Amino acid sequence: MTEIIKDIDIIEENHQEASMVCETIKVSQETNTGQRRKLYIESYGCQMNFSDSEIVSSIMKKNGFDTTSDFNKADVIFLNTCSIREKAEQTVRNRLSQFNTLKGRKPSLMVGVLGCMAERLKEKLLDQEKIVDLVAGPDAYRDLPNLVDEVDSGRKAVNTFLSREETYADISPVRLNSNGVTAFISIMRGCDNMCSFCVVPFTRGRERSRDPYSIVNEAQTLFDQGYREVTLLGQNVDSYKWSPNTSLKGKAQIEKAGESNVVRFSQLLEMVARVHPDLRVRFSTSHPKDITDDVLYTMRKYENICKYIHLPVQSGNSRVLNLMNRTYSREWYLQKVDSIKSILGDACGISSDMIAGFCSETEEEHQDTLSLMEYVKYDFSYMFFYSERPGTLAAKKFKDDVPLEIKKRRLNEIITRQREHSLMRNQLDLNKVHKVLIEGKSKRSADYLQGRNSANKVVLFPRESYMKGQYVNVWVEECTAATLKGRVVEG
Ligand code: SAH
Ligand code: SF4
Ligand code: F3S
Repeated sequence: MTEIIKDIDIIEENHQEASMVCETIKVSQETNTGQRRKLYIESYGCQMNFSDSEIVSSIMKKNGFDTTSDFNKADVIFLNTCSIREKAEQTVRNRLSQFNTLKGRKPSLMVGVLGCMAERLKEKLLDQEKIVDLVAGPDAYRDLPNLVDEVDSGRKAVNTFLSREETYADISPVRLNSNGVTAFISIMRGCDNMCSFCVVPFTRGRERSRDPYSIVNEAQTLFDQGYREVTLLGQNVDSYKWSPNTSLKGKAQIEKAGESNVVRFSQLLEMVARVHPDLRVRFSTSHPKDITDDVLYTMRKYENICKYIHLPVQSGNSRVLNLMNRTYSREWYLQKVDSIKSILGDACGISSDMIAGFCSETEEEHQDTLSLMEYVKYDFSYMFFYSERPGTLAAKKFKDDVPLEIKKRRLNEIITRQREHSLMRNQLDLNKVHKVLIEGKSKRSADYLQGRNSANKVVLFPRESYMKGQYVNVWVEECTAATLKGRVVEG
């Protein structure tokens, strides 16, 4: 088994579905509203992509498509793709060649590539992957009905225009893989940071924030439908900024509107927290350079804002962080962690993303990553070895010179250390009562239900007559590195 597979196992074991980096695949569910044709969507990559697939389903539903979970029944197959690492693109290429066989049997089948790989490769996808009929980038989904019409009339169709304004604010997503309890709300799109390893600014375009009132309305509607948790999503949620002056675009708009009219992330968080005390609020991802004490105090003020922060560090060494263009040092990052612990207490969950073997990383610098982990003791991490991406700053400026075996060995050391820390952190939760929002049946035993505590940890307990969507107090008696286990107790 390769290291990266182990890495994905850890992700799945923990059911950390709020992540920006999860590499599991999600498939559309069956909807039957009497539409003419069937759409099958498979989504790869991060939660933002999964969220986008819900927007795509909504647009397609208005244009004659129900979704299906069986690609054999589909008239149209969309792959909503990810470019973050080489392996993510390879997975999609393999999938496309499998669908090629299907198309051989059913020539009318339409195959489209959406998302980040569509944006990165554009028309090239039509040439390289001959089976592809349609290519649509992340800001082109409103155009999908036209693109589908074009393919229907015998042409190939491409739209990879990146917008400075598109937030799909007015589109109500069709919830695809819903447990009916937890949902994701996109609050911003794009990314203006230029981390040197990262392809996202090229595939997702400039950062733009969504109208806060449309976000609050979406949260309210979800609550009214029975949902009890929302996760506010963005590549860098702490740089959320919105101003009512829509005649100006992007950052210029914010400057000219004047500070008093600007809604920042801490204010948005408060607005969503006020929807209802029984609606839990989470968010992801926080960039260490942007998360402010205001956000931490807002988290402290509202019990329903979950005490969990995903604060990716990437490396524990300041020289490497500088090469990565993360714009913070090891010391700055550790101060942020200290602020979190002093404002929110040690029970606040903290997780991270880590890259092993970035360009020119030495053994000592790798040791710095391990020692930073030792200091922070993350509850959880997503861990990768560096994968050079064409067009990024690192690909242009630095040599990908750490040999693969060394990258893998360093990654394994990081994974092993994280396992130890996850277990240690979970052991601190033993013999305590945790408020758990029930999400459904345990994936391992029908006699158990599972939910999460505020710090985002999966908690298992005997089913009895409890129902998903309820809050229960669980006395935790056992743990592994991945889960907590206990029994429901009174108040
Ligand atoms: N916006 C988020 C991250 C989005 S990408 C943030 O800044 O934290 C998710 C994660 O994928 C990154 O945090 C990083 O750890 C990893 N990643 C991104 N590009 C990578 C690359 N070229 N090689 C390996 N891992 C990468
Ligand atoms: Fe990529 Fe950095 Fe933006 Fe995250 S903040 S999406 S790592 S460029
Ligand atoms: Fe997400 Fe992958 Fe794109 S992580 S933003 S789908 S490159």
